[in-house]
Amino acid sequence: AAADKGPYQHYMLKEIFEQPGVVAETLEGRIYKGRLLEESFGYETRELLDQTRQIHIIACGTSYHAGLVARYWFEDIGIPCMVEVASEYRYRHTVVPEGTLFVTITQSGETADTLAALRGAKDKGYLGSLVVCNVPESSLVRESDVALMTRAGTEIGVASTKAFTTQLVALRLLVLAMAKRMGYTEDDLRGYIEELHSLPRQMEVVLGLNESIEQMARSFSDKEHALFLGRGPFYPIAMEGALKLKEISYIHAEAYPAGELKHGPLALVDEKMPVICALPNDPLLDKVLSNLQEVRARDGELFLFSDQEVKIELDKYQSLTLSDIHPSTAPIVYTVPLQLLAYHVALIKGTDVDQPRNLAKSVTVE
Ligand code: G6P
Repeated sequence: AAADKGPYQHYMLKEIFEQPGVVAETLEGRIYKGRLLEESFGYETRELLDQTRQIHIIACGTSYHAGLVARYWFEDIGIPCMVEVASEYRYRHTVVPEGTLFVTITQSGETADTLAALRGAKDKGYLGSLVVCNVPESSLVRESDVALMTRAGTEIGVASTKAFTTQLVALRLLVLAMAKRMGYTEDDLRGYIEELHSLPRQMEVVLGLNESIEQMARSFSDKEHALFLGRGPFYPIAMEGALKLKEISYIHAEAYPAGELKHGPLALVDEKMPVICALPNDPLLDKVLSNLQEVRARDGELFLFSDQEVKIELDKYQSLTLSDIHPSTAPIVYTVPLQLLAYHVALIKGTDVDQPRNLAKSVTVE
């Protein structure tokens, strides 16, 4: 049952460990043997997607970070995509090009700013509205034209974990459905679908790093600041890592696109500054490694999560290795160690992990 912590000390840890299961659940009936089962989206959704030429994504908090990752995915297949936090979007005059789909992402379906953004979007000339949501009877599901449900189950920890990774999975499904409309063949998509299919297994393996991450977390017990770096889709993953750490451990954490380091944050780096970075084996790897050299040159302390294929030539760092990670789902997998890191740091700090001070699970007032 949702309200039962089982063997776990906190809901957050339980929910982190539930991820392989709820990701599989979110894929259930939607992919089969290397094929996207688009019928599962329903007629109305498919019709909307047929007409979609670009996408505006609106969300708050962790859900906003899911939107930022999806932007890279949509643009990879040729779909222009804008992403914005709801509290900004709702008070701005947006230009809506023809053929734009309005997409909200929300765990609870009750976030006041996101709901207001949806209501305000109704007369702006959008094709229609789609919500990626975890709660079936929620206000955003009721008021959107169509919904794509995540099946994360009840999330109790205020710091969102399994809701985020299942949002990314649902967004991957949307991206694949759009890819078909952009001329990708079933053959082109097969590999991506297989990667989604193996995601629960990949996440399971990463959860096996839990004890090593607990060790790593000890280096954070006396830290006041932390810097998360990333490039490409790993920049929003760095933002999510920083958000988790600040929410539950109260360590001031910031995320930066690694290439921006030299335009400011490098001034903060000295031997007391921990720098956390995911090193997937992707085309931006060399760029990120050279950014990390800059950190080492100022004695910054490096904490890395790297692909087994990646050769790290840095003079000093702590790292954990992830293996068999597929490129299209890598941002989802690399999220897990960052969640665990934040969790273990918070445990050491003795904070109220499931109920961090000043925060609410669902923000239903402006
Ligand atoms: C609150 C929660 C976050 C969540 C955000 C958006 O700040 O503490 O975990 O990401 O609201 O919530 P939603 O339900 O719209 O995803």
